[in-house]
Amino acid sequence: MSDEDIKIHRGLNNVYFDRTKTTYINGKEGVLEYRGYNIHDLSEKSSFEEVSYLLLYGKLPTKNELDAFNKSLKESREIPSKIIDIIRSIKESHPMDVLRTAVSALSAFDEEASDKSYDATMRKGIRLTSQVPTIVMAHNAIRGGKDPIEPSKELSHAANFIYMLDGEIPSDSTASLMDKDFIVHADHGSNASAFAARVCAGTQADLHSAITTGISVLSGPSHGGAAENVMKMVKEVGSPENAKDYVKNLQKSGERVMGFGHRVYKAEDPRAAQLQEGVKFLSQEKGDPSWYEILVAVMDAMKPYQRRGIHANVDFFAGVIYHLLGIPTDLFVPIFAVGRIPGWTIQVLEQYKNNILLRPLLSYTGEHQQEYIPIENRK
Ligand SMILES: CC(C)(COP(=O)(O)OP(=O)(O)OC[C@H]1O[C@@H](n2cnc3c(N)ncnc32)[C@H](O)[C@@H]1OP(=O)(O)O)[C@@H](O)C(=O)NCCC(=O)NCCS
Repeated sequence: MSDEDIKIHRGLNNVYFDRTKTTYINGKEGVLEYRGYNIHDLSEKSSFEEVSYLLLYGKLPTKNELDAFNKSLKESREIPSKIIDIIRSIKESHPMDVLRTAVSALSAFDEEASDKSYDATMRKGIRLTSQVPTIVMAHNAIRGGKDPIEPSKELSHAANFIYMLDGEIPSDSTASLMDKDFIVHADHGSNASAFAARVCAGTQADLHSAITTGISVLSGPSHGGAAENVMKMVKEVGSPENAKDYVKNLQKSGERVMGFGHRVYKAEDPRAAQLQEGVKFLSQEKGDPSWYEILVAVMDAMKPYQRRGIHANVDFFAGVIYHLLGIPTDLFVPIFAVGRIPGWTIQVLEQYKNNILLRPLLSYTGEHQQEYIPIENRK
């Protein structure tokens, strides 16, 4: 078949490659559901632990089921001391590089690492959900010349995460905002990192390999890296009255405004709406409304883009929330990974259930029938 006869789907845009019962996204109407439950209900009424159970087991837990699930999560928070040694030896690297390396290395200490059965993969997914936050915060402490703060066995997933930052137990409102952030990041269909994790699982590789792949793919600025860039942008904008010119200048130079646009959402990203309220609230609580005001001014300046389906995405608000919580900018992408472990795990389990090697084609447009010239005769 010649190249002209081949329909190329660059970026696999609008290509369905399988079916899922986990996450539903309607990009035109801005709808996101996990297992049929609307993200707004889950963000406002549920917890990250309950949402993780929902994603992994396909139903909301009973009280006893949630208690048992919470117990497993809390018991899995520690990481082996040899992982701490590895983190120490690469402490100067970007937190995403450290996370990728540490998760990959964790497989050496997980007795079930190569067991791809449903039960073992589920247990590993639960362990990784708890170990990933510990890795992120252990690295943050070590690079700051401190000893890692032992994870709490009492606090919720979100509260424990903030606790490991500086040893202070966060207020309920702060913990609940972090919890909401983890909920909206828990899964998002076949985005680049989940797709890559599925490609990995499609070869029958194990969960640690698939999650290491997901972390690698998440690190790019077109995916998880956007929250970090939004914070840089907000600092560059400096004050609300500069927002219009800032956007205009980016537009002139053909650059993108970070935290806007989405491959699937052409209406408002429902996750962004949830986090917007959070930034507003936190800005008031911290007595520092300037960050929220800059975000609102950038949104106003971006209004003309709405006609083209370009709206604020989840990363637009996430960065400022983390900043107001005192979290260093380069931890923003790792935080995305902290929330996404249950999503990657269930997608790997779905992939295993009806597994197939994911192997698309490339249409070759290079030369043919080239004559091989010995190296001494080449010019
Ligand atoms: C996320 C993203 C990669 C999705 O892009 P996509 O679906 O592949 O869309 P395209 O790259 O084809 O862009 C389509 C058009 O919208 C424009 N566009 C998309 N996002 C834009 C943004 N953030 N700012 C300005 N213009 C944007 C593109 O320039 C392009 O315009 P053109 O048709 O005149 O060339 C893209 O919107 C982006 O780079 N956003 C900024 C980074 C970001 O916030 N990422 C986090 C996603 S959750």
